[in-house]
Amino acid sequence: MIKGTTDIYCIFGHPVKHSKSPLMHNAVFQYLDIDACYVAFDIEPAKLDKAIESVRIMNIKGLNITVPHKEAVIPLLDTVDNNAMAIGAVNTIKNNDGKLIGYNTDYEGFISSLKNKNIAIKNRHFLILGAGGASRAIIYGLLIEGARVSIYNRTTEKAVILANSLQSFGHIDIIHNIEETKQYDIIVNTTSLGLKKEDALPIDTSLLYDKHIVYDIIYTSTPLLELAKQRGCSTIDGKDMLIWQAFYAFKIWFHIEPPLSEMIRALYLGN
Ligand code: ATR
Repeated sequence: MIKGTTDIYCIFGHPVKHSKSPLMHNAVFQYLDIDACYVAFDIEPAKLDKAIESVRIMNIKGLNITVPHKEAVIPLLDTVDNNAMAIGAVNTIKNNDGKLIGYNTDYEGFISSLKNKNIAIKNRHFLILGAGGASRAIIYGLLIEGARVSIYNRTTEKAVILANSLQSFGHIDIIHNIEETKQYDIIVNTTSLGLKKEDALPIDTSLLYDKHIVYDIIYTSTPLLELAKQRGCSTIDGKDMLIWQAFYAFKIWFHIEPPLSEMIRALYLGN
């Protein structure tokens, strides 16, 4: 029931209608009987500054930030926590009496999605495909957990820039051509390849072996994951990371852990 006292939480993105965050957070609000609701706002990039100002004016208590605003939002905030600063992207904001604090829960979400499946990270060798914003958050998380990281990107220069900017957290190998994959334990697709039916595969799947864990951060089961399964690999899709980033966002806003099972239920059942 929305009342005069109901607090607003939201997500800013462009586009944003596909977002699953309202489903997960509203389900938890209802489950825990929290007087709040969560909505999605499609914000054009040129209007992001005004939209953030409206968060202060309308006393929106907390929000998530998604593509394409995660980097651009940083200078509009009052404080940004060290992890989000190192990653250079914010996906969660808490409104502390008009002071907006930025966080990044994507990297924690990725790490927890592995730990929750009892997948060891330290000293294991990850091949990361892609060098965009999601890749940065994931690689940051992996480096602080002591993983070995190699990165391959269509545009090598972008991988080099990413590796240089995170070098204080650990070494990242730049791969120019993926010819051999036996040295890797876990292969992660962070590129957008797989979102559309006609997309090429992000890696030649004849290079996948049953020893590999293949993780695609796209929410749905992609051709990469289907083919990886056929080759005997263990696979993980992006729903896990999505749930865990929402888990940590909720924890930042309310200082309690949300019921994970309720988030999972809402995401999988769609209500
Ligand atoms: P996100 O924030 O989701 O990570 P992004 O910053 O736009 O998104 O990054 C997209 C990633 O997908 C990049 O690594 C991009 O490669 P380039 O740096 O070469 O552009 C990769 N990508 C997108 N389309 C691709 C394609 N057709 N082939 C290979 N890589 C692609």
